[in-house]
Amino acid sequence: MKLAFVTPEGDTVAAEGEVGESLLRAAQRAGMPLEGTCEGQMACSTCHVVVAAEWFDRLAEASEEEEDMLDLAAGVRRTSRLSCQIVLNEALDGLAVEIPSESYDMRRG
Ligand code: FES
Repeated sequence: MKLAFVTPEGDTVAAEGEVGESLLRAAQRAGMPLEGTCEGQMACSTCHVVVAAEWFDRLAEASEEEEDMLDLAAGVRRTSRLSCQIVLNEALDGLAVEIPSESYDMRRG
């Protein structure tokens, strides 16, 4: 299945994902700068991505733990998610997400 990543520099990178793997894993394989330090334990928020608006509603809803962790991430936007919590499935073929730049912190507006 196809994925599209927009880098912090604004480049779009086409990548392939496998059904059943996390978006984080697919992003890392594509060379995206997501640390994913806690490896999906929802304890770090370094896997934060901003999902394209048209895709956001098609994802399974974020758990409360995920929302709490997102509150701590830099540059959070309305469609932010933790990529380690997004499991790829057929319905997400074509999913597009942006990798936020860590230095660009728009939390406070
Ligand atoms: S990898 Fe740590 S919260 Fe996703």
